[in-house]
Amino acid sequence: MGRVFVAGSINMDVVATADRHPKVGETVAGREVLYFPGGKGANQAVAASRLGARTTLIGRLGKDAFGAELRAFLAAQGVDLGWLRDADTHSGTAIITVAASDNTIVVIPGSNALVSAEDVADVPLAKDDVAVSQFEIPLPTIAAFFARARSAGATTLLNPAPAQKMSGELLALVDILVLNETELGFLAGVELADSDQAAKIIAVARQLQARADQTICVTLGKRGVLALAASEEFAVPGREVKAVDTTGAGDCFVGALASQLADGAPLRAALAFANAAASISVQRMGAGPSMPTAAEVKAVL
Ligand code: RIB
Ligand code: NA
Repeated sequence: MGRVFVAGSINMDVVATADRHPKVGETVAGREVLYFPGGKGANQAVAASRLGARTTLIGRLGKDAFGAELRAFLAAQGVDLGWLRDADTHSGTAIITVAASDNTIVVIPGSNALVSAEDVADVPLAKDDVAVSQFEIPLPTIAAFFARARSAGATTLLNPAPAQKMSGELLALVDILVLNETELGFLAGVELADSDQAAKIIAVARQLQARADQTICVTLGKRGVLALAASEEFAVPGREVKAVDTTGAGDCFVGALASQLADGAPLRAALAFANAAASISVQRMGAGPSMPTAAEVKAVL
């Protein structure tokens, strides 16, 4: 059984809940302010660890009160923190508004901006391991991490969120790309709408594919997942649930997928599992704390 290595961001999510989102320039009364461990890298690592994978998180925390709290939370989830380093700045922070289960997020990188190629240089990746990253740490760090992972025979999994332009060199280092429709549209330079049919989405994904053996998984929220791989194309149906907070649902999906692939599961089964895991996370408030256990996922599959 392989291990999961996540190089990524760690944030404290400062969440305001309100009945509706303010318009630009407007003030609305909120209900509560809540503090949840978050950050895409940390969320993905927590999901993988809670789902039973041996998981290491490579990242940076500020030497502040949030940093101490985030470290304690991650340790309690069983995540290996041996590769976590401090930074001489504040911890990553996300200012989030949740209204009617939808969110807006302003993310301030802080310590995450200092995760460097040096931080990933000696990570003990091996064949059967899955190396995971997202776009809340510097892209050259991700490229160094993935180059190392590939030379060790590990599988690389990229979640290019939040979307930003990436080089062809980085894309070519990716074995499995997991992104939503908006990110796919942005990276492919194509307008995609919610009503777009599977065939169109698959065609755009094919256009983005950097290598014939690259797998692309497009997450469509409650409409499920579309996947294209070297020898197959298929859809995983969506799951109808009542969402209270979708923050971190994509991260839950990515972490769950990594845990299953590290365990040797075939792609289709791993995606169905990840889809079920994400459907559980949206029914709970917060990012990190909403990640399910393997028993919880098996109970709904
Ligand atoms: O994907 C959700 C995450 O994005 C939140 O936890 C927040 O920290 C932002 O980084
Ligand atoms: Na959630």
